[in-house]
Amino acid sequence: MQLLEERILKDGQILGDNILKVDSFLTHQVDYKLMKAIGKVFAEAYKEAGITKVVTIEASGIAPAAYAAEALDVPMIFAKKHKNITMTEGILTAEVYSFTKQVTSTVSIAGKFLDKDDKVLIVDDFLANGQAAKGLIEIIEQAGAAVEGVGIVIEKSFQDGRQLIEDMGVKVTSLARIAKFEDGKLVFAQADA
Ligand code: G4P
Repeated sequence: MQLLEERILKDGQILGDNILKVDSFLTHQVDYKLMKAIGKVFAEAYKEAGITKVVTIEASGIAPAAYAAEALDVPMIFAKKHKNITMTEGILTAEVYSFTKQVTSTVSIAGKFLDKDDKVLIVDDFLANGQAAKGLIEIIEQAGAAVEGVGIVIEKSFQDGRQLIEDMGVKVTSLARIAKFEDGKLVFAQADA
């Protein structure tokens, strides 16, 4: 997605060897016009898939997922990283290990929001090692629903996430793919949409 790649080049900051900071439009402050455009691209890519729900994980997946849901005219559900006192029954969970933070967290979705007839598009902000997407796929499969694809705003192609998700038999659609960081510059690979 050219608009996204241009924005990453304009406003993204490379931190250390492999982290891209995009807090001015995606992970902290949100540019809703860009998110709306992103949502439309995901919806176009999955328009034949009969998507009935969009699923993401808090926090930074919520903005692109909400606009994808708007464009597909379906509900958006975000998995919670912390147990909420109102989530009392029928909770579907998965363990998600973060290589970046070196912690395992339990993520959850109330089972009542997913059923076996659902066709789900997962949307997330970053694909790094793929652990968050893997956990969401496990939760959706516990509900007996089908995962039609994983839509990613920014994929770091030099990490293992795509392979992990494709090995689970799930299609990945990334709007920007970073092949590497070289001499403080970012090199894109061919994106999926
Ligand atoms: P994984 O799910 O692909 O395995 O990711 P990993 O454990 O490596 O990453 C943990 C967190 O760091 C995730 O967010 C992920 O989106 C984020 N992340 C990974 N690489 C980058 C990067 O290059 N830049 C930025 N800005 N974030 C990155 P999270 O902890 O779930 O955060 P949030 O969604 O609550 O903000």
